[in-house]
This record gives sequence, C-alpha cells and structure tokens, in this order.
Amino acid sequence: MTDENLATSASRTRTHPRRTDALSALMTEDWAATQPDWGFNRDAIELAAVRRRELAAQFPDTVLIIPSGSAKVRSNDVTYVFRPHTGFAHLTGLGVRSDPDSALVLAGGEAVLFQREPMGPGTEAFYLDGAGEYWTGRRPSMAELQTALNVPVRPIEGLVEYLTGVGRSVQVVPNVAPAVDRLLAAGAVNVDEAGSDALATALDEMRLTKTLWEVGEMQKAVDVSIRGFADVVQALPKAVSVSRGERVVEWAFLGRARIEANDIGYGSTAAAGENATTLHWDACDGLVRANDLVLLDAGAELETLYTADITRTMPVSGRFSDVQRLVYQAVLDAADAAIAAAVVGRPFQDPHDAAVTVLAERLEEWGILPVTAAESLSDDGQQHRRWMPHATSHHLGLDVHDCAGSRPENYRGATIRPNMVFTVEPGLYFQADDLSVPAEFRGIGVRIEDDIVATEDGPVNLSAGLPRTIAEIEEWMHPLLERGRALLSTATA
Ligand code: GLY
Ligand code: MN
Ligand code: MN
Repeated sequence: MTDENLATSASRTRTHPRRTDALSALMTEDWAATQPDWGFNRDAIELAAVRRRELAAQFPDTVLIIPSGSAKVRSNDVTYVFRPHTGFAHLTGLGVRSDPDSALVLAGGEAVLFQREPMGPGTEAFYLDGAGEYWTGRRPSMAELQTALNVPVRPIEGLVEYLTGVGRSVQVVPNVAPAVDRLLAAGAVNVDEAGSDALATALDEMRLTKTLWEVGEMQKAVDVSIRGFADVVQALPKAVSVSRGERVVEWAFLGRARIEANDIGYGSTAAAGENATTLHWDACDGLVRANDLVLLDAGAELETLYTADITRTMPVSGRFSDVQRLVYQAVLDAADAAIAAAVVGRPFQDPHDAAVTVLAERLEEWGILPVTAAESLSDDGQQHRRWMPHATSHHLGLDVHDCAGSRPENYRGATIRPNMVFTVEPGLYFQADDLSVPAEFRGIGVRIEDDIVATEDGPVNLSAGLPRTIAEIEEWMHPLLERGRALLSTATA
C-alpha cells in the first residue's frame, strides 16, 4: 500500500515550493489551534446512523465498503469541485463536508470511517502538498470528525490491515473510487464482485422512500429554487438585450443557488424559442427574443446535497401568444392529471400513463397525430412519442435521478408508497423543422416539472409555490419584469 495507490487527486501532483530546513522550521510551528464550526448537520448525521444499521442488517457476515469517491480531473491538474458518492453521503450525513478518498466500512454492527489524514498545521504536507491545508483551508481533524459522527475515524492507509483483521467477505461499491480499488488490489483483498453489485443496488433502493426530515430538506431546496426562478424572470429584460440571453437566464438561477444553497443539483437547461425543443440543450448560449417562450429546468442543491428539479416555461414578454397558450395548457392538463394519479397504492407508471393520455388526445384534436389517441397509446402504436419522448417521473433526492440503480420491479414496476418523492414533468416538443405539425406549432417546446411527495392523504406538490397556470404565471411575471426593466434602464443610463 504505497502512496501511489492513493494518489488520484490532481492536486497531489502539483509542484509546490522546494523544501528547506529553514522554511520547514518556520512553517510547522506557531499556528493557533482553531475550533471553527465545521457546519456538520446533526440531523443528517443521526439519520445516517440509523441507515447504517438497516444496511448492515441486510448484509450480515460481510464487510461493506462505501467509498466517498475521488476528485475528478477536468483537465490536466484542474479538478472539478468534489461531490461525494451519494451512498456515502446518505450513510454518513456529511454532505459537502465529505472528503475524497474516504471509505465508510461497515462490519456487522461496527462502522469505521477511513480517510486521508489531514495535512494540517504542524505537518510538512501542510504547505508542501497542493492539497495541504495551507493552500486549501483548514479541515476538521480526525478527532473532531470522530466526535461529530460518533464513529471511529482512521487513516485510509490502515484499511487493508483492518479488513484482514475482520476476516470476512468484502463488498465494495463498484466504480466509485479507483484509489480505494487500487488499495484493495495491492493488499490482495478478495472482493466479492456479485455481492458488490448487490450492495450498489441496495444503496439505491434504501432511498426509494424518504423520511420527513428529508422531505423537509427537499422543500428547502425547492424554496431556494422558487426564488431563483423569480430572479430569472427579473433578469429577462437583460436577457433580451444581449446576444447570449440564455446565459443570463442560467446565471440568474445559478447565483441564487450558490448564494442560498450549495450549488445547482445538475446542469441547468436554459432554452429559449426553438432550443426548448432540444431535450438536452446544455449550451445555453442562444438568443432570448421578446416573443419567445423560455424553458428553464433547474434545481438548487443544499449543503446536505438534497436537490430540487423544477421546470417552468414562461413567455419572455409576460404574455402567452394564442398558440403558446394552447400548447402550455395541454401540458399543464397532462401535469395535473399525472399529479392526481400520484396516489399511494397505485402503480408508479400511472402518472406517466395519465399524462400521455391527455397529450395524445390533444395531439389528435389538433390533427397532429396520424392515428387516434387510443391507437397511439396502444403498445404497438406510440406515435405521440415523436413529441413527448421521455418518462414523466423519476425519483428525486440526493441525486436528481435518485435511486436509478434500483431493480426495475422496485422502480418503474413498483407501487407508489408513502414518502416516495418523484418528479412529474410532461412536455410537448415541436422542433422547428418538424413538417408533420402546423407551421405555427414549430419551434415551441413546453415542459412543466414539479416535485411531488406521495402521502397517505394524497400527493403533495413541493413546488406548488411556483406559479403553474397561465393566469398565475402572467400575474407573477408582471411586477418582476417591471423591476427588471427598471434595473436595466438604471444600469444603462
Ligand atoms: N433535469 C433533469 C430532469 O428533469 O430529469
Ligand atoms: Mn426531472
Ligand atoms: Mn428537470
């Protein structure tokens, strides 16, 4: 187990000042002991302890390793901001306080967190290593982390020795941390591959229902996002005034997410006009024209890493045109039908079926479907998917597409259970060159996405506070656009 086995982070390859005895003597002494508030989330940590016990009970007689992941290289010696593996976050409660190259180990009733020793004041790595705390800021000591988690915290270099001592079959979440995989391989640890896949599945399936605390976190993420959407409307006059107006939309939301939360939970789609018909429009560099619709799919992510996932499609002018109104209302009716079907005890697919039924009927009514709605909805039809190609719902939580590794029978084939949280996001997308639709429909893309929690008392829309109906949207936008115009004229005066 050499340091090369652990060296994944690009920062560790950076060259920093040459060591001298004189500098070392000066740099390793006279640093005050600091006791900052590290921002650990007590609720998240306590909940994680409960989950660890649940998971360990599913895998008796094995040792489970859940790595936090490695710093990912963007290019050369530049890494992305570290984001821990979701299973690690779920089972530690550390959220953004997680470090790369850590591994949570569960052996029966015992949990141990292995991680890199902090390169703090008093160590030479403090200033000689690019990841040292002189460069990157102070981190909690292992003792502080141990106290916060109430779990033993040990140096990652001791992982193999610990596993050898426990002497049980080892399962490690695959494809998360090359550094940990290399460490296990170098230590000749025998990893149970099939069991490891089962562990990855179990981690995702554990999150299929949320606790009330988690739902509360998601409500907070939604509430920040709602304020972000208002910022976007206020920024629309500026968006219209520049050549890459979609960037203004993207930036306005990002600003709110970064200021009030941790970040965005996924790359936003900010798409005006015909760009809204491209599902994965991530360039976000197009024009925003006064008569366009603008589609924003964006969600704020908290420090606990719970995220929102919301889409609204809004008229840049503040008023929908007749054809925009027609398409928007169809999608809204589909969304309402889907939410009404998000009922405990019904199949998870029911909201999707309800949404596409409404959309197929509307496409038939408009003369766009080449067959009847019923024919299109049949298994061997499906022509409506030319204009509504995606699923209506996915689970939401720590990941935007939460629980994606669940077995199909526990996800799309499952029954809706209380405290499942999922999106409802129907859309209609008429691409600009789609000759199969009347000319006035071409270039219109509409999606409405809300975050729903299923309860015994019926579906609750966490994002209901963000206007959805045509009248609500127009009324909500009016003063925000006024303010945006006033700000723009002050800025350009
Ligand atoms: N924002 C990605 C999605 O809606 O699924
Ligand atoms: Mn979504
Ligand atoms: Mn979305």
